[in-house]
Amino acid sequence: MSQPSKDKLIRTLLGRLDSERVLGGKWLEVGGHIEDAPLVEMPIEEQEEAPVAKKKTSGSNKDKKLQLADVAETIAACTKCPLHKSRINPVPGDGNPNAQIVFVGEAPGQNEDEQGKPFVGRAGKLLTKIIEAMGLKREDVFICNILKSRPPDNRDPRPEEIVACMDYLFEQIAIIEPQVIVALGSHAAKTLLNTTEAIGKLRGRFHEYQPGPFAKPVKLVATYHPAYLLRNYTKETRQRVWDDMKMVLNEVGLPVPRRQA
Ligand code: URA
Repeated sequence: MSQPSKDKLIRTLLGRLDSERVLGGKWLEVGGHIEDAPLVEMPIEEQEEAPVAKKKTSGSNKDKKLQLADVAETIAACTKCPLHKSRINPVPGDGNPNAQIVFVGEAPGQNEDEQGKPFVGRAGKLLTKIIEAMGLKREDVFICNILKSRPPDNRDPRPEEIVACMDYLFEQIAIIEPQVIVALGSHAAKTLLNTTEAIGKLRGRFHEYQPGPFAKPVKLVATYHPAYLLRNYTKETRQRVWDDMKMVLNEVGLPVPRRQA
């Protein structure tokens, strides 16, 4: 077995051990899949100039695209949990294979299931506005979820579904090698950080996501899920999300667009 294959296997096994250790507690009862909230205008920041996202020079974009396509193919054929039976389409995630920023949500909802694309419903529209307020486009970043199949009736992901699915996310992150991961909401943050701490405590600071024993840790910022934001559309929550996004922009070396009055 080649060294990269060994590293990948070890990463996968460690990830699984970690997740099995943390899952099974009662944190999965917290939060929920809250896609069905009304869409409200996000405060749009004034953009002085369109910043060009810095591209990493290491790794080939084409290779990464092919590798991500392989992961997507494996996801489409996956039968590790029963969700493959009820879903319409798998939703592996999409975006820039060379993205500096990866957004990770919870699980596809109805719109995502129908279209096979992440964050295309009302919460997705708000996420797009947040990305645009950052001076970026959806195509500049990579967007995916912890679960790659929709849980029926948008119920919460079950621990065994997360354990079955999270290797795919680990693989995607290992391929993309982003500079920052943005965990959207409590399921994503708790799963990636292997913690039971509430999202309100996790947001507002940098964490480190460890992709594997030999890999460099990746900075992670946790913030509120856009669906939560839709339901709690206060000046304070919007400001908190914007503060989190400013940290992300600073970390990847992009300008922070000026705020509208
Ligand atoms: N909510 C999520 O967490 N992910 C999606 O893709 C859509 C809504």
